[in-house]
Amino acid sequence: MKALTCMAVLAWGGTALAGEASPPKLPIGVSAALYDISVPPDRKPTPERVALGEKLFNDKRLSADDSVSCATCHDPKRAFTDGKATSVGIKNQVGQRNSPTVLNALFAATQFWDGRAGTLEEQAMLPILNPIEMGMPSPEAVVAKVKGIPEYRTEFQKVFGRELNYDDLAAAIAAFERMQFSGNARFDRFLAGDAKALNASEKRGWALFNGKARCNTCHAGNAVSPLFSDQKFHNIGIAAHKQDFSKLAAEALKIVRTGDEKQIDELALETKFSELGRFLVTKNENDIGSFKTPTLRNVGVTGPYMHDGSLTTLWDVIDHYNKGGIANPFLDGGMQRLGLTEPEIDDLVAFMFALTADDFSALEKQELARQRARKNNRPERDTAAALGKKGNLGDLAPNPNLDIKNPAELGLYGPVRLTEK
Ligand code: HEC
Ligand code: HEC
Repeated sequence: MKALTCMAVLAWGGTALAGEASPPKLPIGVSAALYDISVPPDRKPTPERVALGEKLFNDKRLSADDSVSCATCHDPKRAFTDGKATSVGIKNQVGQRNSPTVLNALFAATQFWDGRAGTLEEQAMLPILNPIEMGMPSPEAVVAKVKGIPEYRTEFQKVFGRELNYDDLAAAIAAFERMQFSGNARFDRFLAGDAKALNASEKRGWALFNGKARCNTCHAGNAVSPLFSDQKFHNIGIAAHKQDFSKLAAEALKIVRTGDEKQIDELALETKFSELGRFLVTKNENDIGSFKTPTLRNVGVTGPYMHDGSLTTLWDVIDHYNKGGIANPFLDGGMQRLGLTEPEIDDLVAFMFALTADDFSALEKQELARQRARKNNRPERDTAAALGKKGNLGDLAPNPNLDIKNPAELGLYGPVRLTEK
C-alpha cells in the first residue's frame, strides 16, 4: 500500500528513488515507483541476464524446425508486433489471436488477452511448447536442444551459476522483457507541462477520450495508470458476430480443466473456443467473450487491432465504439453508442497516434499514412446506430469541456475535472 500512495504523488516520469532499488533510466511517462512495484526484487534484470534473454528472444533455434523465434511475432522494429491479424507459427500455421506488443508488458498484472499467465516467466514458457507457435514437444526437449548449442551451455553456467534448465531460460527472456518499457510520447511531454507537444486536434482527442467518447472508463491514462488500461477484462462485442457465445460456453465447460495453463493456451490459439476469452480461465459466465483491456501506448504502430486482429485501422476501432459495439448477452455495460461526428473521430485517432514513443516516429508516419488512405473504406461504420436513430443503446455522454486552463490537468483525474465547470 505504501508504494501505491507514493506513486500517486510522483509525477509522470518521476526520477529514480535513491538506494539500491534504483531502476534503470526510465523514459518520461513511466515512473520509477511503478517500475519498483512491477519488478519483484529477486527478478531485477541484471545486464548479463538481459543480454542472454535478448539472444534467446531472437533465436529461431528455440523452435522445432528453427524457423520461428519470439521476435518473428514480436518484431522489435515493429514495436514488438508482427503486423498480421493473427500470428503465424511454424509450418505456416495460423493462430486465432493477434500478437500484442511486449513493450510495457512488464507492468501488466496478467499476460495474454485472457490473462491466463500471471508472470512474464510463466508466459515465456508457453509459446515455445505450443504446437502452432514454436512447436517444441516438451521442456526437456527444449533444454536438450539448447544445451546442444555450446555457447548457451557456457553462458547459462556463467549467468545462473548452474546447468541450463527451463526455468532459467524463461527467467532470462523475462529479464530482457523487463527492460522493454516505453514512454517518451508527445502525450507524455504534454502531460509533463509542454502545452505545445500536442496539436489542437490531438488535444481535442484527449478531451473526447475522457468525456464524450468515454474511453477512460476502461483505458484511463494518468499517473497511476500509465498504460491506458484498467487491467480488467471486458466483452466489447468483438467476436459477437462470429459465435453463439452461450452454446460455445456450454461446450467449453465440458472440456476445460481449471488452472491448466497449457490446455487453455492450446484452446485459445488453436480452436473456436478462443472467442470465449477470459471465460476459459475463470469458467465464470460474466467473463464470456471478455478480453484484457490492452495498453494504448504505441497503438498507432501496432495494428491490426483487437484480440483477433479483426479491425484494420483506428478509424475502424472508433466506428466500433461509436455504434456501441456489437450487441450480445454478455456485452459490457460500459459500451454505449457515442454519437461522435466525423471530425471528432479524426481527433480521437490523432490523439491515439500521439501515444507513440519517439523511437517509432518514422513507423508512425508510415502507419498514419497507410491508415488514412483507408479512411473512406469503413466496414464498421454505422452512423444511424451511433447517432441513436436505430437501436436503443442509452444516453449520449455530454460534450467535453475544451477550455481547461492548465493542459497538464486535462483528464488527469478522469472525467470529474471535465464536468466541474
Ligand atoms: C507464432 C507467433 C508467436 C510467437 C513465436 C511468440 N508469440 Fe508471444 N504472443 C503471440 C500471440 C498471438 C499472443 C497473444 C495470445 C493470447 O493472448 O492468447 C502473444 C502474447 C505474448 C505476451 C503477452 C502480452 C500481453 O500483453 O498480454 C508476451 C509477453 C509474449 N507473447 C512474449 C513472447 C515470448 C517471450 C516469446 C518467445 C518465447 C513469444 N511471445 C513467442 C504470438 C507469438
Ligand atoms: C468497456 C471497456 C472499454 C471501453 C469503454 C473502451 N475500451 Fe477499448 N478496449 C477494451 C477491451 C476489453 C479491448 C480488447 C477487446 C478485444 O480484443 O476483444 C479494447 C481494445 C481497444 C483497442 C485495440 C488495441 C489493440 O492493441 O488491439 C483500441 C485502439 C481501443 N480499445 C481504444 C478505445 C477507445 C478510443 C475508446 C473510446 C472510444 C475505448 N477503447 C473504449 C475495453 C474498452
